[in-house]
Amino acid sequence: MRHSHPRQRLWRLSIVLSVLLLAGCARHRQSTLHASGAGAQRIEGLWWLLFWISMAVFAEVMLILGWALWRRRRATATIKGGDAIGAITVLGVAVPFVILVAAYGLGLRDLNALAAPREKPDVTVEVIGHQWWWEIHYPDRAGAVTANEMHIPVGQPVKVRLRTADVQHSFWVPQLMPKTDLIAGKVNETWLQTDRAGTYRAQCAEYCGKQHAFMALMVVAEPRPAFDAWVAATAQPATGTLTTAQQRGRQIFEQSSCASCHTIRGTSAVGEVGPDLTTIGSRWSIGAGAAPNDAGHLGGWIVNSQTIKPGNAMPPQPVAAQDLPDLLSYLQSLK
Ligand code: CUA
Repeated sequence: MRHSHPRQRLWRLSIVLSVLLLAGCARHRQSTLHASGAGAQRIEGLWWLLFWISMAVFAEVMLILGWALWRRRRATATIKGGDAIGAITVLGVAVPFVILVAAYGLGLRDLNALAAPREKPDVTVEVIGHQWWWEIHYPDRAGAVTANEMHIPVGQPVKVRLRTADVQHSFWVPQLMPKTDLIAGKVNETWLQTDRAGTYRAQCAEYCGKQHAFMALMVVAEPRPAFDAWVAATAQPATGTLTTAQQRGRQIFEQSSCASCHTIRGTSAVGEVGPDLTTIGSRWSIGAGAAPNDAGHLGGWIVNSQTIKPGNAMPPQPVAAQDLPDLLSYLQSLK
């Protein structure tokens, strides 16, 4: 077996890591520099303005430094005191003053624009932060409850009401809007607007405990008719036709400890500790971004979610091996 030099191995490792990092960027960009929403576009504009100002100041300082070194080497003449004071007044006081006042003024303009959308929002979404997941309600449509996933219509401002069930969290959709905190005992408000249909990954942006990193949320922006249809479908109780195996799965769910923590609307499961599972089969992930939503991960999650997301509130479930396939089949049918 050939052994590679440690430095070579380090190089290979760094290439693999960079590819992995870039691959992460391709899907669900969580970047304020790829703004797709009215609020994020302002933030991005301000970011680039400050970036280019910094670049200009850096270039200016480097030029002056170069010039000073060049002069010193040639030692043609010493600088007169009057010249130095003049240069300090212009470059060290007047220019920074103008730049800072202009940047502050533009910041205030953007802050004002971010405070409220131009049109009055027609859709309201209520977001409740939990350690570590997001509860989503559509208060205008009774029963429309889901978790870790929010749909919004394209081309319209959406009001987002934020509160927390436990500790401080922060709601952040980098491509759509800046952060807004969820503060205990308070209802905060923000808004979202995008003209581009698509999915936007959101992330809790306030450290809230062990699984803060796995407190993600997917914002799905879609044309108004599709949005209306989604809200109407989400508000429906689980009344789909079930196969015999799925009916068994439902019985297992209702008779086990699952039902004491989770609700599946239209069944006898009305627990309120964990997320509402009425549409679990259609969600983008399980555990707020902790694992993909497929039979394997869902099974692993039910049996012992602590191995996937240590510290989360769900204890391991003693589900008999012969019961698990029917339970999974039932949960996956809930859309
Ligand atoms: Cu919730 Cu960090």
